[in-house]
Amino acid sequence: MSLPDLLPIQPFTRPVRGTVTLPGSKSITNRALLLAALCDGPVTLTGALFSEDTEIMAEALRQLGFVVKEDVEQKTIYVEGRAGKIPAENATLHVGLAGTAARFLTALCAAAPKGTYKIDGVAQMRKRPMKGLFDALEKQGAKINYLGETGFFPIEIHAHGLRGGSVEIDASESSQMLSALLMVSPLAKETTDIHLTNSVRWPFVQMTTNLMSRFAQPNIGHLSEHSFRVQNQTAYSAEGGIFPIDPDATAASYFAALPIVSRGKLLLHGLHQGLQGDTDFLGICEKVGLSVEETNAGFEASFCGTQKPTGHTQDFSEFSDTFLTLAAIAPLLDGPTKITGIAHTRKQETDRVKGMANELKKLGQHVIETEDSLEIHPKPLTPGVTIETYGDHRFAMSFAILGCYDLLGNGQPWLTIKNPDCCKKTFPNFFDVLNQLRQEAHFPIVAIDGGAASGKSSTSRAIAECFNLLHVDTGSFYRAVTAELLARGIATTDQSAVKNALGQITLGTRVTGRSAFMEIGGQTIPEARIRSAEVTAAVSHFAAIPELRAALLAYQRGQTDVARKNDFCGLVMEGRDIGSVIFPDADFRFFLHADPAERARRREQQGQPDQIAERDRLDSQRKTAPLVLPPGATGIDSTYLTLEQVVEKLSATIATRLSRA
Ligand code: CDP
Repeated sequence: MSLPDLLPIQPFTRPVRGTVTLPGSKSITNRALLLAALCDGPVTLTGALFSEDTEIMAEALRQLGFVVKEDVEQKTIYVEGRAGKIPAENATLHVGLAGTAARFLTALCAAAPKGTYKIDGVAQMRKRPMKGLFDALEKQGAKINYLGETGFFPIEIHAHGLRGGSVEIDASESSQMLSALLMVSPLAKETTDIHLTNSVRWPFVQMTTNLMSRFAQPNIGHLSEHSFRVQNQTAYSAEGGIFPIDPDATAASYFAALPIVSRGKLLLHGLHQGLQGDTDFLGICEKVGLSVEETNAGFEASFCGTQKPTGHTQDFSEFSDTFLTLAAIAPLLDGPTKITGIAHTRKQETDRVKGMANELKKLGQHVIETEDSLEIHPKPLTPGVTIETYGDHRFAMSFAILGCYDLLGNGQPWLTIKNPDCCKKTFPNFFDVLNQLRQEAHFPIVAIDGGAASGKSSTSRAIAECFNLLHVDTGSFYRAVTAELLARGIATTDQSAVKNALGQITLGTRVTGRSAFMEIGGQTIPEARIRSAEVTAAVSHFAAIPELRAALLAYQRGQTDVARKNDFCGLVMEGRDIGSVIFPDADFRFFLHADPAERARRREQQGQPDQIAERDRLDSQRKTAPLVLPPGATGIDSTYLTLEQVVEKLSATIATRLSRA
């Protein structure tokens, strides 16, 4: 689905939270497509990116006679490698504005033993630097006819294979030219020694050589700092016919910047320090004030304090695709931001240095532009600006992150992105991902913990009513599971039987009124049974079993989806460990307590026999998720308060913060 030509950006009025699933890396996907086509058999790329640039590469390989099958749902691309052979001897290839495809395919065509290949791109592509690669390929034996301006697309290649031997290349304008030559050099008739005549940006070259060795091509040696030796006649192959693609580190830069703009915490799922130099952007964000932690699941980026993020001077020559992300949020930083090492980006999708300076000036910023740098001195932002994207996806995405800042303080858009669809190039669902995070941030979660009969349920129901939230009583979940285990004749001490039974039980949720009820095997258990003396006596014993708690963890967190599907505005969840374990990042965390004698009196009034003191002891002393007042939660002693007074206290806190949203 296309986006409107002018897209106003809705600011985040609440801190971002949760997890972002990033697209596969463009740089790795397009390299892996080429290397897979050169492999000695079929290869399936998993976690691949599907975007304009990768589609261009896949389609060109098909034009060259390779079998390439894409499964967008599964994020896989199946490529039948032909062991270095290029099936079609004649083809016309269109590379659009995709720099990687342009360079890699040119090198591939030149490496064919014979054949004639025409290659062209869009008008902007016809201006992008190619000459260093064309010259090197001609020295290697290819004949290149220029169909337009010399040194640029469109071209016609007459292939005669690659000679190997010594070859010079000037890849200073784009390291992709060197990457292209490196990847096809194993097809040459002899060992190739590649000498660089100029400096090159290393991180992407390193990505290429790392990928080549992951595709079983270890024979790349450094002869000196500026020359490589690539052995010939060694076929590429992928272990087990599978090659996993890492999430895109450049795309991650936008979501690393988002918590700086909106405050909050985001998990950049699956991203690790690996092949991509652009992960270094996270280190720059740390200097600005973001805290970054590497976990097994990926990097976690958070900015939760009240301090202001600070401006910073940084050489971006090694990870220049991310400079736009920092430049766009520079107006929000304390003090000037200076970005150097970016002259070469003037020849990318557009003149990025000039374009950035133009747009920041429109936003009221004081910008000093040199050939190789930008210095941004923050000034009050001008609302009502439409950002020109110059057909460059990185302008659309980086300024969209700036637009997430709630400049007007009322959640109203103040910045519009022109032609947002240009992000299809590398991140087609960028704006969907941003919307989803915005919805999650604006979806309040209220956690209410407390001991037995502390008033959680009545309070939670009233709060749910007041703010149109789904009410989730997790105690009733533990009770329902207890009833089921007892019905199966399982003793509270029989942990392995409990574990076994949990493997057989299917859990669902039924929403009645505003409350969620657990279904076991498609049935809810009657309230009378759930509240029975037998269940009450057993529940805390079962609830202390770690496997049982672990089994219910995802189920409880999944209640947010239930709430969304049923059109609630948020969720109020009550229990013993909601603010500490289930939703430690909940927007509101309350802990109710009351004098034990008063609680016993309340239970008696309800006519329910209970062993409150005993359950409190078991709940507080168990090893897993004990009943505690979690740090940062608001404790409320309800001994001398009526239910109305407690509800009033909670709703006043919630209302003030929500109305600011
Ligand atoms: O009777 P009361 O409403 O105080 O308790 P409940 O909320 O129905 O919970 C029954 C029992 O389930 C508690 O005594 C705990 O042992 C257990 N439970 C838990 O361990 N963790 C939760 N999040 C909720 C309940």
